[in-house]
Amino acid sequence: VSVKPISYQNDRFVQLSEMSISPFDRGYLFAHAAYEVTAVYHGELIDFSGHEQRLARTLDALAIPNPFQGDRLLQMHHTLIARNSLKEGLIYLQVTAGDYDLRDFAGPETIMPNVTAFAAEKKLIGDAARLGISTILSEDTRWQRRDLKTTQLLSQALAYRSARNADATTAIMCENGLITEAASANVWIVRKDGSLQTRERSSAILSGITRQRAIEEVFTTSAGLLVAPVIEIDGHQIGSGQPGPITRWIQALYYRTMGADLTKIGWL
Ligand code: PDD
Repeated sequence: VSVKPISYQNDRFVQLSEMSISPFDRGYLFAHAAYEVTAVYHGELIDFSGHEQRLARTLDALAIPNPFQGDRLLQMHHTLIARNSLKEGLIYLQVTAGDYDLRDFAGPETIMPNVTAFAAEKKLIGDAARLGISTILSEDTRWQRRDLKTTQLLSQALAYRSARNADATTAIMCENGLITEAASANVWIVRKDGSLQTRERSSAILSGITRQRAIEEVFTTSAGLLVAPVIEIDGHQIGSGQPGPITRWIQALYYRTMGADLTKIGWL
């Protein structure tokens, strides 16, 4: 990943080096902040409206007024892409609950958000997609509002560090013996009968997925790695140890909806 030089802070496009954040910013003090990561492919935003809608939902739940009305969020994304000549990668956006020169837990009645955004170049259809990723299992120690995309990511950051120590790419998190999701992606399991299983959107309990269970294929989905086959969990091989046919099929479907030229992706 390489971060591009033109970024955005509170209505202005600035050099990355010119951005500054107060030590009293509520995002910094309390993780009182929403974020979104949107994939860019061929210079086009992928699934933008979904990200826009989720941002609105998160901001609402965090009592942060939405700083982007109408198509302003889209325009800002387009400008970051254009000014950085971004072809393939991500736009990272963060909206915090502002800074008030005080460490006050509750904060003011009316919040004035702080916005930052930057563009990063990243190969979205690269080695992770081609070869699969190794993972570890870790306990899901997060707070209970995982449906909100907040910067409260310490559990995930520590899970990523454990994964790195084990030469794995990411962690798959479990709670009460059931997989919730990966540290920064959703997890899908392809069952022996060909059916797909993933955790419900709500926090309702699913019929048991345990690590002992026969798992034929596992993959993750995210703006960061799109569809990534999981080939290993905690050192145990998944399926044949190679990305499986159903995951490949889903990759192909997804890449095609992005406008990717599948004939140029030799391994698919
Ligand atoms: N993470 N689950 C978690 C905990 C995530 O952090 C993410 C994305 C997802 C996948 O959501 P989406 O398909 O909308 O990207 C699921 C982003 C990429 C990140 O934090 O970098």
